[in-house]
Amino acid sequence: MTLQIKSLKQYKKVYQESVDNPEQFWAEQAATFQWQKKWDKVLSWDFKKPDVKWFEGGKMNITENCLDRHLKDRADQTAILWEPNDPNAKTVKYSYQDLYEEVCRFGNALRAKGIKKGDRVCFYMPMVAELAIGVLACARIGAVHSVVFAGFSATALADRIKDASCKMVICSDYNARGAKNIPVKQVVDEAMLQGCTSVETVIVHKNTGGKVNWEPARDVWWSDAVYRRQKHCKPAAMSSEDMLFILYTSGSTGKPKGVVHTCGGYMVYTCFSFKNVFQYEKGDVYWCTADIGWITGHSYIVYGPLLAGATTMMFEGVPTYPDAGRFWQICEKHKVNQFYTAPTAIRALMAKGDEYVEKYDLSDLKVIGSVGEPINVEAWNWYNEKVGKGNAPIVDTWWQTETGGIMITPLPGITDTKPCYASYPMPGIQPILVDSQGVLVEGNDVEGLLCVKFPWPSMIRTTYGDHERCRQVYFSSFENMYFTGDGCRRDSEGRLRIIGRVDDVINVSGHRMGTAEVENAINEHPAVIESAVVGYPHDIKGQGIFAYIIAQEGTVGDAGFEKSIRDVVVKEIGPIAKPDKMLVVPGLPKTRSGKIMRRILRKIASGDASNLGDISTLLNPDVVAVIKEAAGV
Ligand code: WTA
Repeated sequence: MTLQIKSLKQYKKVYQESVDNPEQFWAEQAATFQWQKKWDKVLSWDFKKPDVKWFEGGKMNITENCLDRHLKDRADQTAILWEPNDPNAKTVKYSYQDLYEEVCRFGNALRAKGIKKGDRVCFYMPMVAELAIGVLACARIGAVHSVVFAGFSATALADRIKDASCKMVICSDYNARGAKNIPVKQVVDEAMLQGCTSVETVIVHKNTGGKVNWEPARDVWWSDAVYRRQKHCKPAAMSSEDMLFILYTSGSTGKPKGVVHTCGGYMVYTCFSFKNVFQYEKGDVYWCTADIGWITGHSYIVYGPLLAGATTMMFEGVPTYPDAGRFWQICEKHKVNQFYTAPTAIRALMAKGDEYVEKYDLSDLKVIGSVGEPINVEAWNWYNEKVGKGNAPIVDTWWQTETGGIMITPLPGITDTKPCYASYPMPGIQPILVDSQGVLVEGNDVEGLLCVKFPWPSMIRTTYGDHERCRQVYFSSFENMYFTGDGCRRDSEGRLRIIGRVDDVINVSGHRMGTAEVENAINEHPAVIESAVVGYPHDIKGQGIFAYIIAQEGTVGDAGFEKSIRDVVVKEIGPIAKPDKMLVVPGLPKTRSGKIMRRILRKIASGDASNLGDISTLLNPDVVAVIKEAAGV
């Protein structure tokens, strides 16, 4: 059994051991899993390249550990509890036995369609159980899954399919989201027209049953694909360092990059972190409200919980449908014990008033979690008092797509909690703060750039198809360290507080967005000459998107123009990247070397232009006053 820490004393001891002797520590954890062949070497690493290998020489399949391993003692226990969008529709339960059989059947279907070990398969699906089944079926046969959040546009989907040369796309017909029925297959059809020549087959899961267009040579219904397939499927023998999945995420420059995770280390770390952060006990019902299109869903809806033999819930809908009590109604209905969500959802529900949360019995909650962005004090307090009733500790978990698993977090009931503090590193995680020169910032009551100085099993291995980019983005800023892109404060007692991104990445409702990516989309508009996008503080979203736009002469920056800009962004990226505010400006403040001074634009966007610092060195200092006036600050 994977180690589950139970006391502060034990946490301190285990943490120390994990730092003093990491290889021994992780070998002990890895030994609690089922391996087809034991590893030869626990760890080899070189952050310069980067080249990190965990459990080299080992052979395994993560689905044997998620499924087969549990059939002995929990075949009938619910593995996935699927709660539909419609509150009156029936909950669907998949026992471990059911899930095993569904995964095997679909794995056989994939093989029959010619999918082999190493092939990339793209998923573009809403939160239906088939998404989890499909992902696991890929892992079963050694195919690499690339899940694309179903809110992305056809263009964004096509970019990701092409980058990974996916051989297959798996989608649903429609997505039932609140009162809406959103076409999904139609978006895939549009993406296919954008040069996705690698795709041979599109498998379509019938979700709501609406009308879809059909390409007979390419499209197959899920139900037909699995028809009469065997309920056993031989698991592929995967090397520890074989690719498990690709997940695209935004950075400060260029197009989103495909973060690559591998099999062995990811398995060990997601299970270990799940068990400890949520203190999951047999019989508990665990619910993470994330979408599987993001890393949180990969690690803490699918892999972590299933590896630990948990009952994990998947929810198809939205927190405000049919009303703002939906989350709490579901918690009551299923007696949820561990609840994990994002600050943006907490703030949105907090704004709707306490009556929605007070109506329901939340007494089964033991741990409540937060992830994806900094949580503000008001939201932390409300979550603590109204949801946790002061009894369920908040785990404010800091981590990233690239880290694969939770890195810094309180352990509930074991370490203390303090509003807005992710607090303490997990065993095996060695965070440090450095200044902009890379000099270690020591002591307490200090701030710095957050880095990690030693490898951990679930860390990023490469960015798909472009290893140099991985080196450049994460390993080149500071020698021998993984650089997170986040700023961080250490309080007088050593707890860590994540302040936010220090690069050109903004965090909108917990979704990472590259400012360059949004600018590129806006620049597609025929009347746009140049644009600059920055984040600004937003009550619900955490950060909102503020776009400064230089438009062609004669363009009126009215509501019609703003709508046409939003439409372009929706087409290029998706609704999540729509600018909240726009301002047509005659120019952008630039340095003499032509770089946009975002610092100034951020200040003006935040509504406080009182202290802009020295602007005399700008190429065009006069433009600042014009922008200030246009912004009314
Ligand atoms: C931010 C999500 C403050 C951070 C798992 C990080 C957080 C980025 C927290 C990664 C937290 C995540 N407190 N900030 N508890 N968790 N972040 O890749 O800026 O979607 O770098 O992974 O979200 O976002 P990603």
